[in-house]
Amino acid sequence: MANITYIESSGNSTTINLTDGWSLMQGATANGIDGILGECGGSCACATCHCYVDETRLADLPAASEGELAMLEHVASERRPNSRLACQIKASPALEGLIVHLPETQE
Ligand code: FES
Repeated sequence: MANITYIESSGNSTTINLTDGWSLMQGATANGIDGILGECGGSCACATCHCYVDETRLADLPAASEGELAMLEHVASERRPNSRLACQIKASPALEGLIVHLPETQE
């Protein structure tokens, strides 16, 4: 389990206790967080689960795969060095307290 805090572009903040193995995208969509769409269901094929990970925690995350990096080329909002796809980040105790900011738009 890990407490993950999602901060939407509006400033709305939601913290979820996410079960190990669930992706950050699944946690957001299952809890009604509007800033993540997850249109492809997590198969790294839509880029509508774009998020900005707290830069101080980037080292706690597994590196992005080639497929994720390719899909990050297609995000609707500005791509930044801390851009990731939420469907590719799975909850684990190492992510406890992680904060992710959500972009203004996903499409
Ligand atoms: S849900 Fe489609 S790329 Fe993440």
